[in-house]
Amino acid sequence: MEFGFTFGNCYEKKFNPRVYLETYYVSPLGNPQEKEFLPFVLKNLVKAFSSFPKFHTLLEIGCGPCLHLALCASGRAEEIVLSDFASNNHQEIQLWLQNDPGAFDWSPIAKFVCELEGNREKWAEKEKKLRDSIKQVLKCDVHQSNPLCPVELEPVDCLVTSLCLEAACKDKTAYCSALRNVTSLLKPGGVLIMISVLNETYYTVNELKFSCLKFDQAFLEKALKEAGYEIDQFEILAFPDDRRSISDWEASVFLVAHKQEYFVLNQYYSCCKSMQFTTY
Ligand SMILES: C[S@@+](CC[C@H](N)C(=O)[O-])C[C@H]1O[C@@H](n2cnc3c(N)ncnc32)[C@H](O)[C@@H]1O
Repeated sequence: MEFGFTFGNCYEKKFNPRVYLETYYVSPLGNPQEKEFLPFVLKNLVKAFSSFPKFHTLLEIGCGPCLHLALCASGRAEEIVLSDFASNNHQEIQLWLQNDPGAFDWSPIAKFVCELEGNREKWAEKEKKLRDSIKQVLKCDVHQSNPLCPVELEPVDCLVTSLCLEAACKDKTAYCSALRNVTSLLKPGGVLIMISVLNETYYTVNELKFSCLKFDQAFLEKALKEAGYEIDQFEILAFPDDRRSISDWEASVFLVAHKQEYFVLNQYYSCCKSMQFTTY
């Protein structure tokens, strides 16, 4: 594949979900070239969800063929809705949901998550609970004002997304707009958990390069603020100064933020102020 921006239809045609999983998610240690990335993500997810009270609905945007975020949320979220652009990813998830013998094996990661939660033996129970709580696997396009169109979902309590927006967006303007689109699916006061990477330009699947929007921490924080979030936690894992070929991120990010309840009102007031209107 010639290396340029990877449009959604490239994911439909060229992204091999099974190879992606075998490259990055075969063990809780992740791909050795990615160093501590996956343990960093899993540990932060387990810690964050264990600090939340139980809640009703969690929506994952751009899940790909992955279930590790949902595994960490299972037990806290009553209902889970997964979404991704590509139908090949939906099919991979359906295999696992149907307990198909050819499905990808998530048990090493389920065992690791249960161990972090304090009881490794409960992994099979956790997988069963997850199968029961996943209610829908939907088509999603973050560039649509309703990314789940034509499905209209009630605003959810928790939105999670990992490595999706930077893969889906060609430039920073598109990123900010996609972030606003997905934020419209979250309740005011609801929580966003995002896993992202800083200064990455590509990652590979079966030696095919997929593009990634390059940005730094300052851009990400500003984009979140402008989309109406207050950041509650921002963890960074810097990549050691080693050579690798599988991807080129410089640091990975785990963040928790909440959608401000009065963001729209605040915007209205600041707009009035700048126009020198009187507000009461
Ligand atoms: C790098 S993968 C991330 C998969 C998974 N969330 C993870 O953490 O490994 C990027 C995902 O973004 C999805 N994607 C690409 N363009 C998209 C779009 N316009 N809307 C929603 N998802 C999109 C792809 O189908 C792919 O599954």
